[in-house]
Amino acid sequence: MPGFSEQIKGCIFNLDGVMVDTAKYHYTAWRRLANQLGFDFSPQQHEELRGLSRLASLEKILEWGDIYMTEAEKLHWSDVKNNWYVELISNLRPADVLPGVLLFLRQVREAGLKIALSSASRSARQVLRSTQLEAYFDAIIDGYSIRKVKPDPESFLLAAQALGLPPSACLVFEDADLGVQAGVAGGFTVIGIGLPEYLPNAHLVIAGFENLTWNNLLKQLSGAAVI
Ligand code: G1P
Repeated sequence: MPGFSEQIKGCIFNLDGVMVDTAKYHYTAWRRLANQLGFDFSPQQHEELRGLSRLASLEKILEWGDIYMTEAEKLHWSDVKNNWYVELISNLRPADVLPGVLLFLRQVREAGLKIALSSASRSARQVLRSTQLEAYFDAIIDGYSIRKVKPDPESFLLAAQALGLPPSACLVFEDADLGVQAGVAGGFTVIGIGLPEYLPNAHLVIAGFENLTWNNLLKQLSGAAVI
């Protein structure tokens, strides 16, 4: 049986909050919508929306505000939120890619691995284009391809399939606990990005990609007895 580092042939990255700090714009736009409906919600509550689809996010927010909407009203308000969000991300530039991400992607490429994006957002391609990240990806799974909401593993399984790899050959990089749960449920090794207390289900948690090398990550996985 090959060692773990030889077994890993692909990396699957979430986008919002992992590669680009777009989660703050989702929060601003969703909060503006809640405010128009007469209530507010906290950054902690917004954590629960990370990784959810647009409709699932809206339904959660409506629960918090104890508001009933017809399906047509939900469509209308999710469009309104999306227009605000698209306006907020219209000025994204390559400099908005989070520290260390580009260098890490290059190292992953040089190590001969394949790279996929898996994002619940329908704006993922726009974000990749304006930050000039698109060329790094062999496969892109976004909110248009995904049918099942996390913690269902569908989004990562589609990404692995698009790379032609089994889950056991892929690392998943995720900043949301729901996404980590989805990756683990799919049989992936999952690296949480952020604070360990928010990511109790990840195999390993790192603060971000700044100063992270591919070899250093493999060492950390080995130190955490994941490999
Ligand atoms: C959707 C949701 C948002 C969620 C994001 C995850 O984005 O609206 O709440 O955090 O996916 O990446 P959208 O398709 O609306 O861009």
